[in-house]
Amino acid sequence: MKPSHTAIIMDGNGRWAQQREKPRGNGHTEGAEAVRRIVRHARRLEMDCLTLFAFSSLNWGRPSTEINDLMDLLLEFLYSERQELLENGIRLRAIGERDFLPSSVRAALAQLESDTAACTDMELVLAVSYDGRRDMVRAARRLALMAQKGDLLPADLNETQLMDALSTRALPDVDLLIRTSGEFRTSGFLPLEACYAELYFTETLWPDFTEADLDAACVEYSRRQRRFGLTSDQLAVNG
Ligand code: IPE
Ligand code: IPE
Ligand code: MG
Repeated sequence: MKPSHTAIIMDGNGRWAQQREKPRGNGHTEGAEAVRRIVRHARRLEMDCLTLFAFSSLNWGRPSTEINDLMDLLLEFLYSERQELLENGIRLRAIGERDFLPSSVRAALAQLESDTAACTDMELVLAVSYDGRRDMVRAARRLALMAQKGDLLPADLNETQLMDALSTRALPDVDLLIRTSGEFRTSGFLPLEACYAELYFTETLWPDFTEADLDAACVEYSRRQRRFGLTSDQLAVNG
């Protein structure tokens, strides 16, 4: 089985640059190249959805020069990939607190979301200024407002409504969560959406991550038995 929804914590750009005695920005530039090849490859692998952690809410604490580099790269990506996304039927969606983003990035995101709205072959989700707990707070506010207006009875609230209140609404659950650069944490990425995801950690730094690395993660995924609480015997009986 291949993952329908893969999510990636693209980590290690800074260390990649440091190892080469280059400024961190060079690592981010190379990281953007890795994004391009991995989006293309995910589409080739016929994944339904690819979610990439591009910038966390905590990343606002980095030096402003690095933040500017990252925002510039994001903007460049949104312009340069437009044609490729359209040609490959890839729909773009951004999640996260976009109010915090520079207006140029906000505008480019909105434009590309609308330009690719009719694409149905794959969904590319960019998490920018994203933090899972903050997203949950926004969802809770949304639900509380619905209850206040009388559109939702608190006793009737179910998992579907809760998940639909998140910014990832209507996306399938994450099947495979990859983190590069040898860190073993999820750093606030998709806490509810990836609550039953298979986790895959690799030492490879994000700028070095290739199509073959994604293939290797998918092979590992296909070897795992996802039991969803059942026993292996039950799964064997039910096929
Ligand atoms: C990931 O690489 C990119 C972002 C967080 C935006 P890092 O910049 O975190 O790289 P390291 O962890 O310092 O190597
Ligand atoms: C996580 O990377 C966020 C992104 C990949 C964009 P960080 O490098 O910021 O994560 P922590 O803070 O070290 O866990
Ligand atoms: Mg990092």
